[in-house]
Amino acid sequence: MQIHETAFIISTYRSYHEELSKDIYARLWNNSKTDFLIPAILETISKDDALLHSLRNRFFYEQMRTFFAKNNGGTLINFGAGFSMYPFMLPNTVHTIEIDKKDITAYKKEKTTQWIREGKLPHREIQYVAIDFNHHAEQDISTAIQPMLKKKPTFILLEGVLFFLGPDTTHKLCAVFKELQSKGDLLGCVSFIPEIENTKVYQRLLHYFDSHNENNDPFYHQTLPHSFYNNLNGYQLKEHIDEFDLSKIYAPDAGITDKTKILNEHMYILQKS
Ligand SMILES: C[S@@+](CC[C@H](N)C(=O)[O-])C[C@H]1O[C@@H](n2cnc3c(N)ncnc32)[C@H](O)[C@@H]1O
Repeated sequence: MQIHETAFIISTYRSYHEELSKDIYARLWNNSKTDFLIPAILETISKDDALLHSLRNRFFYEQMRTFFAKNNGGTLINFGAGFSMYPFMLPNTVHTIEIDKKDITAYKKEKTTQWIREGKLPHREIQYVAIDFNHHAEQDISTAIQPMLKKKPTFILLEGVLFFLGPDTTHKLCAVFKELQSKGDLLGCVSFIPEIENTKVYQRLLHYFDSHNENNDPFYHQTLPHSFYNNLNGYQLKEHIDEFDLSKIYAPDAGITDKTKILNEHMYILQKS
């Protein structure tokens, strides 16, 4: 499994639960290779994973919708954007900068341009930036993005990425965020807490990645304690919720009753001080 395949899997998950994720465009990315992979993942790791990822998407969608409505637009800077479709779900007063590895940004730009031309997507102001977070220096990342920032305030999103990063890259990205953002701007992050490492469901996830890592990609399996966010330099933690509690709000009938049996990710909203 390559990292870009995880982006296809998550967008397909969102398309399974449009009513929850609110992402009516995710289905555009569906493809037979991903369709083939998913049943085995849901069976061998956790049957609730598609629903949980849709809840995560819904949480950030609501956060960004409220933030940009209050500020009459702004800029969404999505680090490791994969195939997420927030720009098309948000109003056209929002500009977007999407950053990811080169193969993802090139393919996404080509397809979204085609779909806008064909009327399958509404027109939006989006800039695609190819950066590998592991290989580029802090200053290079900031310098590449800074000139594109024309509309304030900003909402930075780091969704579904921290699991794959090591501590050095994580600290580098946080320093970049601090440099790019101004007082009052928001940062949204997702990660697992270290306690999940003792659960069977997480062990199954690691086993799946390890046994499907044909290219020997470096997977860090990073988890982060709440204290990481409480102590993040330049930011104040505003909101924190996990997918277990989100399921009670948006999917109370889904039968999710035990947080130790699901891949329970935690979402954090931080405000630049
Ligand atoms: C699991 S996907 C999540 C995509 C999207 N944020 C979402 O939630 O649907 C992880 C994304 O992070 C990107 N990514 C992982 N490591 C990266 C790195 N070192 N540099 C740039 N992008 C990276 C991958 O290419 C992929 O698109």
